[in-house]
Amino acid sequence: MDDTSAPRPFSPSFDPLEGVQAGGPAGAIPFVYGHPDPDLLPVEKIIIATERALRARGRLALQYGPEQGYGPLLDYLIGKVERDEGLRITRANIMLCAGAAQGLDTAARLFTRPGDVVLVEAPSYHEAIATLRDHPVELRQVPMDGHGLVVEALAEQLEALSRAGRRVAFLYTIPTFQNPSGITMTAERREALVELAAEQGLLLVEDDVYRDLCYEGRVPPSLFELAGGQGVIRLGSFSKILAAGLRLGWIMAEPEVIRQIVSCGLKGNEGGANPFVAHVVAAFCQEGWLEPHIAQLVARYRTRRDALLAALGREMPDGVRWTRPSGGFFVWLTLPEPLEAEAVLAAATERGVIFTPGARFFAQASEGGGRRNLRLPFSFLSEAQMAEGVRILAEVIREQGSSEAQSSKLKAQSSKSKVQSPKETGDRPDHPTT
Ligand SMILES: Cc1ncc(COP(=O)(O)O)c(C=O)c1O
Repeated sequence: MDDTSAPRPFSPSFDPLEGVQAGGPAGAIPFVYGHPDPDLLPVEKIIIATERALRARGRLALQYGPEQGYGPLLDYLIGKVERDEGLRITRANIMLCAGAAQGLDTAARLFTRPGDVVLVEAPSYHEAIATLRDHPVELRQVPMDGHGLVVEALAEQLEALSRAGRRVAFLYTIPTFQNPSGITMTAERREALVELAAEQGLLLVEDDVYRDLCYEGRVPPSLFELAGGQGVIRLGSFSKILAAGLRLGWIMAEPEVIRQIVSCGLKGNEGGANPFVAHVVAAFCQEGWLEPHIAQLVARYRTRRDALLAALGREMPDGVRWTRPSGGFFVWLTLPEPLEAEAVLAAATERGVIFTPGARFFAQASEGGGRRNLRLPFSFLSEAQMAEGVRILAEVIREQGSSEAQSSKLKAQSSKSKVQSPKETGDRPDHPTT
C-alpha cells in the first residue's frame, strides 16, 4: 500500500478539520485570504446573544424555521437598509440564505437553463466563478476599467450573443469594493447598466457583501435601488460584518422572485437558512450591537488599507500600479510588462510570501487576463506582516524586472546581429544562437 494513502494516526493536537480556513504554509505571509480579522470576531457578545436567543425563544430557536427566514431578523434588515440607504422594502422583498455564496448558487439553480450564458466581470470573485461552474452554463466575461464594468462592452456582447441565438441568464456583478480589484462602479455606470439591463431584459445578480465596509466617501446606490427593485437579485451577508462562520446572508429581490426561491424544493426541505443562527444574529442586532461593531471594523480595516497602500508606495519599483479601494478588503496590483504574476509567486513563495495570482479571477483565463495581476487582501494580515510581505514582493519584482531587462537587452543585441548579413556574423539567420 502506498504510504501517502494510509490514514494519518489520530492526533488530538492536529486536526485539519478543526481549524479555520486560514494560514497557508507555516511561516508564510499569506496575502491570500479575504477573511475578516479573527481579532475582530465578537466572541463574548455572540455568547450572550446565543443565551438570550435561547432564553427568549427556547425550543422554537432549535426547530426548522420558516422558508423565508426568521421574521424579526428580516425586519431588522429592512430597518437597516432604510436607515443606511433610505431604501424602502418590505418582507416580500427579502429572505435569508446560508451566505451570499448560497444565494448565488440558488440564483444559478433557479434562473438558468442548460446551455445558457452567464456573464461575469473580468476580473471577478474566483469562488463565485467556481460556484457558477457547478451549473451547466457557459461563462463569458465583460471587461472592467477603473470605474467598474464597461457598459458599452456589455451592450456589444449582448448584441453578439443575441445574434448567435444565445440566451443570457444573468450578469453577476460586484459593483461595490469589488473582490478582487477593489474597484467601485460609479453612480453613472450603475445607471447606465440598470438602463441597459431593463432595455434588454437582462437579470442582474448584484453581490453587495462589502457595502458596509466603506472607508471614505459614500457608496453609490445599489443596482437594486436604481432599478426600483425590478430585475435585480441583490445578495448581502453577515460574513464580512459579523462572522463568516455564521453562514448567514440575505437575498433582496422583487416579490415574485422571492416567492419563487422560497417555494423551491430545497427551501421547503431545509426549513429556512440556519434558523438557530438567525435567532442568535437577531438577538445580537436587537441589542444594538451591530452598528458599533461595523464602526469598529471600518476603523480597523481603514488603518490596514492605509498601511498596505503606504507600504506599496514606499517599496514598489516604478512601473508597478495598484488600485486604491475606498472600501472592502482588496488591492489589485498590476506588474509592468513583461513580468508575470506566476513567476513572481514562485520566487516570492520561496521567500515566504504567497498571494493569489490574477489569472484565477478570470472566467476565460485562456484570454490572458490577470497574467500581470496580484490580489492583495488587507483584512487578515497585521500591518507588520503586510509591510514585510510587500518588502519581499517588491524585492522579487525588482529582481525579475532587472533580469527581464537584461534578457531583452540580450535579445535586442541578438536581433540587431540578426539583421546583419550571415556573412558578417557567421550566423544563419533562421537559427539564431540566443
Ligand atoms: C464578493 C464576495 N461574495 C461573496 C462572498 C462570500 O460570502 P458568504 O460568506 O456570505 O457566502 C465573498 C467572500 O469572500 C465575496 O468576496
